Amino acid sequence: MSSAHESRETPLLKVEGLSKTFLSGGLFARPQTVVALRDVSFTVDRGEAVALVGESGSGKSTVARILLRLERPDEGRILLDAEDILATEPLRASLPYRGRVQMVFQDPFGSLNRTHDVNHHLARPLLRHKRATSKDVREKAIDLLHVVGLEPAEEFIWRRPYELSGGQRQRVAIARALAVDPDLLIADEPTSMLDVSIRMNILTLLARLKEERRLAMLLITHDLASARYLADRVLVLFRGRIVEAGPADEIVASPAHPYTQALLESIADVGKLGAESRDVEPDPDELSSDGCPFAPRCPEAMDVCWKVDPSYRTVDSRRVRCHLYPEDGGGAGEAETGARTQAAGQ
Ligand SMILES: Nc1ncnc2c1ncn2[C@@H]1O[C@H](COP(=O)(O)OP(=O)(O)OP(=O)(O)O)[C@@H](O)[C@H]1O
Ligand SMILES: [Mg+2]
Repeated sequence: MSSAHESRETPLLKVEGLSKTFLSGGLFARPQTVVALRDVSFTVDRGEAVALVGESGSGKSTVARILLRLERPDEGRILLDAEDILATEPLRASLPYRGRVQMVFQDPFGSLNRTHDVNHHLARPLLRHKRATSKDVREKAIDLLHVVGLEPAEEFIWRRPYELSGGQRQRVAIARALAVDPDLLIADEPTSMLDVSIRMNILTLLARLKEERRLAMLLITHDLASARYLADRVLVLFRGRIVEAGPADEIVASPAHPYTQALLESIADVGKLGAESRDVEPDPDELSSDGCPFAPRCPEAMDVCWKVDPSYRTVDSRRVRCHLYPEDGGGAGEAETGARTQAAGQ
């Protein structure tokens, strides 16, 4: 059968069944295992922004660290343009891989070297990845500053991090990531340490880059309002597992999973971008061995929720892991399949 789904180009990034368990505790504490990710699967297409949303500790940064090759998953595959990265890449990512997958971190103060000027931060990746020669490196660095809106670029290029505001530093960090002309940009809470007043500017910049450069993005955030603004699709992570996945507008307009609903309610006003959002308070005693991991916090928990871990079900063009919705005919599927197939037909 030749469906629209099959005829689509291969996704830029395909993550299949990532699982990761950490052993925590130290010399004096009893060692404990922390399941950071359970069977996480998703895709990111070229020019698409996907937001990974969830409360603190849900596993968002673990996904980013695995994608950056800073951490090895216990299970799962990462396909970049259909190439199995875990099979071919060393744990420390190679130069070609880093030329394709770049990161913008949360802390614009910590991510730049205070002893070097902006020129140094941009020239280094440009030369290292052979995106410039010693002749045109200055010109290319200045171009990058134009791209991220740091004007006058000829002046900003000589500034050092301490001469820049938080928002300006984050723009330099974005310019540095763009220097290698990556295919995928991972941004882990890129605005959460910035003044509320300038968060929107950075999100606008990222949105423009996505459109103009057809840059794929994985935006990590606990803020569904930012996710809705920037992302085409949202993945909601709870306790290391995707509990709802689908188009951003649909998820924000009518969240299906009670956890997504709780996340949305924790944002005072979803229309007010940059507003502080609270995490849903985690309760350390809420571990249930069987059943749905969200059941202890779920206002709608039914008998079955305590006994049976729900499979993914299709709700509109979303996949939702919750007993509130009827099971699909085909049984348990991946978090993403339904949403992608339907989106492909649009
Ligand atoms: N190196 C590590 N050793 C032990 N436990 C870890 C390690 N890294 C992450 N964890 C645990 O894995 C879980 C997921 O962590 P992760 O940092 O991915 O969450 P997060 O969603 O990014 O949270 P936040 O919003 O606070 O940044 C947490 O319980 C965390 O304590
Ligand atoms: Mg994190």
